[in-house]
Amino acid sequence: MSWLRRKPIGEPEATGERLARTLGWPHLVALGVGAIVGTGIYTLTGVGAGMAGPAVILSFAIAGAVCACAALAYAEMATMIPAAGSAYTYSYAVLGEAIAWVVGWSLILEYTVVCAAVAVGWSGYAGGVIRSQHWPIPIALLAGPGAGGLVNLPAVVISLMVAGLLCLGTRESARINFVLVLVKIAALVMFVVLALPAFDPHRFTPFAPYGFAKHEVGGAAKGVMAAAAIIFFAFYGFDAVSTAAEETKNPARDLKIGIVGSMLACTVIYIAVAAAALGAVPYQALADSAEPLAAVLRGLGRPGAATLIAAAAIIALPTVILAFMYGQSRIFFVMARDGLLPERLARVNAKTGTPVVVTLLTGVVVAALAGLLSLKDIAALANAGTLCAFIAVAACMLVMRRRDPDRVRPFRAPAAWVIGPLAIVGCLYLFASLEFATIWRFFAWNAVGLGVYALYARPRSRHA
Ligand code: ALA
Repeated sequence: MSWLRRKPIGEPEATGERLARTLGWPHLVALGVGAIVGTGIYTLTGVGAGMAGPAVILSFAIAGAVCACAALAYAEMATMIPAAGSAYTYSYAVLGEAIAWVVGWSLILEYTVVCAAVAVGWSGYAGGVIRSQHWPIPIALLAGPGAGGLVNLPAVVISLMVAGLLCLGTRESARINFVLVLVKIAALVMFVVLALPAFDPHRFTPFAPYGFAKHEVGGAAKGVMAAAAIIFFAFYGFDAVSTAAEETKNPARDLKIGIVGSMLACTVIYIAVAAAALGAVPYQALADSAEPLAAVLRGLGRPGAATLIAAAAIIALPTVILAFMYGQSRIFFVMARDGLLPERLARVNAKTGTPVVVTLLTGVVVAALAGLLSLKDIAALANAGTLCAFIAVAACMLVMRRRDPDRVRPFRAPAAWVIGPLAIVGCLYLFASLEFATIWRFFAWNAVGLGVYALYARPRSRHA
């Protein structure tokens, strides 16, 4: 049946030019932490605290554990099929065209919406600086209608600026990434050091005022798992590590350390930041802020440090948008190359080497979403798309272990039959813990997608 057709897998050795193997595991950990640390920890910590209370710490641990399992499956697939397109490409080679389409269509949603979410997170900190410096910008222009304003202008501006940069052919360089990782981490360490002296253990009782499982109160999801389904946002971005496989000196060892290391490092940093914040102020204070970490420091009488942490967020978060917007254009490009999306849109500009049309289109959609929607809604939708992709990648790993056990695997996930099912079940549980409204939006997006597939993509597939 045509919707089950699969794209042939190229051998890792046979795919064109080889890149120089220069990266060791410390580079990979830096790469991972650079792509992962963003709006999740800087802003969603507050949203999560509002949903789970102090037990949001547990939400961090659960989301981190599920992501670590998915990341190992990701690394195995990325090294076995080192071609652009990530989860979409693996699904096309292993699970068939229709599932690959759903994954690709979900990834387009994910990458677009992640950019919007990070832009809104960025704007929270930029807005804080604008207000504290009394710049003459009306408050209604600093937040979208979902957050009590008219339009989130800073988020619109940063989305369009990053899209513009990408059109000019800007790629993140490893050196800049390294400096920004240091800035982001130094700011978080400073936060922990300054907030810890105000730590009051009494703020941790009751620990889980909204219980464990998701339940909706007046249309808003509450509970440790509901918070974990949002906090999940803070952990992804590690595809950056697996895509560096070809440049790694010793993939089998370095990828394992790079992926699990950056995941563990982030989990430890995140839990330390969340514990310090929750110990310093009542969790309700975090929940209401668009710039929770700066708000905590201001509340502790440290306005200078609050400005520093805001500055770190303002400098470093746009690179997360850059990475995801770039990823979006690559997915689109690969789907167009397979004939499933219009090639005109994905055509690469000869001068800049970037697909200008799709990048500009993405920039405009990201700007519109970021200008109008609330952070919680867009982060949740991004998570739905990502969870779908993670489930597909873990399934691909298990199917390939059965179907083709002898294929060369430069990296083998340890205990695949434990971590694969754990990743799938964990992602399904997180998906079910999202708000019903998010789940419906995700299915509506894919219903439209399947219509496009049946009417446009399937008849045009290159692999027909
Ligand atoms: N993990 C990334 C962030 O938190 C998407 O911004």
